[in-house]
Amino acid sequence: MAFDKDLKNYYIQQISYIREQNLYKQEKQIQSPQFASIDVEYPKGVNKDGIINICSNNYLGLSNHPEVIKAAKDTLDSRGYGMSSVRFICGTQDIHVDLENKMSLFLGMDDTILYSSAFDANLGIFEALLDEDCAIFTDSLNHASIIDGTRLCKAKKIRYANNDMDDLQLKLEEEKDFRIKLIVTDGVFSMDGIVAHVDKICELAKMYKALVMVDDSHATGFIGKTGRGTHELHNVMGEVDIISTTFGKALGGASGGCISGRQEIIEILRQKSRPYLFSNSISPVVVGGVLKVMSMIMESTERRDKLEINSEFWKKGLREAGFILTNTGSPIVPVMLFNAKLAQEFSTDLYKEGVYAIGFFYPVVPKGKARIRTQISAAHEKEHLEKALDAFIRVGKKYDILGRTREEILDRFPISTSL
Ligand SMILES: Cc1ncc(COP(=O)(O)O)c(C=O)c1O
Repeated sequence: MAFDKDLKNYYIQQISYIREQNLYKQEKQIQSPQFASIDVEYPKGVNKDGIINICSNNYLGLSNHPEVIKAAKDTLDSRGYGMSSVRFICGTQDIHVDLENKMSLFLGMDDTILYSSAFDANLGIFEALLDEDCAIFTDSLNHASIIDGTRLCKAKKIRYANNDMDDLQLKLEEEKDFRIKLIVTDGVFSMDGIVAHVDKICELAKMYKALVMVDDSHATGFIGKTGRGTHELHNVMGEVDIISTTFGKALGGASGGCISGRQEIIEILRQKSRPYLFSNSISPVVVGGVLKVMSMIMESTERRDKLEINSEFWKKGLREAGFILTNTGSPIVPVMLFNAKLAQEFSTDLYKEGVYAIGFFYPVVPKGKARIRTQISAAHEKEHLEKALDAFIRVGKKYDILGRTREEILDRFPISTSL
């Protein structure tokens, strides 16, 4: 048998190493729908109800909205549960096409193609569009799915420093002779909450005749005046060639994703993109839910506006209390703790205080940049945020990190003993 004692020990050692480095990720079980406050069983056998959830991607608070649930149920009744097919065989219903059209309208793009997830969308695009005589200019903090997608493609990969337009220009100048050049960036960098310079990227793309692709998974539905995304925020609607995004965050949070873009690009993807051709259609029940979400957010910006107010309140409160935040321009608000063990203990203490917020550390973020990533939602009321802020301050005082610089925190919690 291949899985013998030695191989078993090999994996056990890897798991032990992860634990020793304080990098082990422990999952807590939620026993309620996703919302501003949740019921959690953790540790096993101990139920804690009404914990304030400050780390979900439920930006617009629609994951458990009655109208979305009703639309999903109605679609379950009218279109059934599963498609048991990929799109081109017998997996395309009218509602799949309706959703593609609605996404194109919302994002201001020619056409849209659905995928089972944004991860799949990013896996499936580069190889379908580019060959070995092409080049991809990719931001160093791009999401794992972009990194993996570019690995599947023969084009030359050129990494530029995070959001550094001088570096991008330098690299475009050095590598200007490739047949097709594609610049790809996250619209909002998911670990830091920083918004990409999509306007400047578009300018450089014009200068160097490059295509622009933005992954707006952490932007679609709420960034920009009407929530279209980072291209709306930066006034470059019509200039971005390709947008990938997810339905798994602000847009109801179930699952699925899409790519919107130039008509010919989407047509090629329908013919060649492997996760589209060789993976099942999105379930009708999810399509029905997302269609409802899109109608709601196209009718009113109320939720997106509330999210902005909530986010500003939260950032101000944390900054005034003396926490170190990133230069975030989104509802992603990372509280920097630098040390992985400190991030984990901080998260455990917050949980005891009734606040659910997870420590992020290597390999999810670089070594020495551990943090608690908080995320604000339109589902939060002021009382949730005030209570959570009080808890952060109490725990911050316990570790004596309020008003401290990065160096001071690292002096007390050196990363030599823990990442
Ligand atoms: C920037 C970015 N792109 C893509 C994804 C993948 O989204 P999905 O959950 O739809 O696969 C994520 C999710 O974490 C993300 O943050």
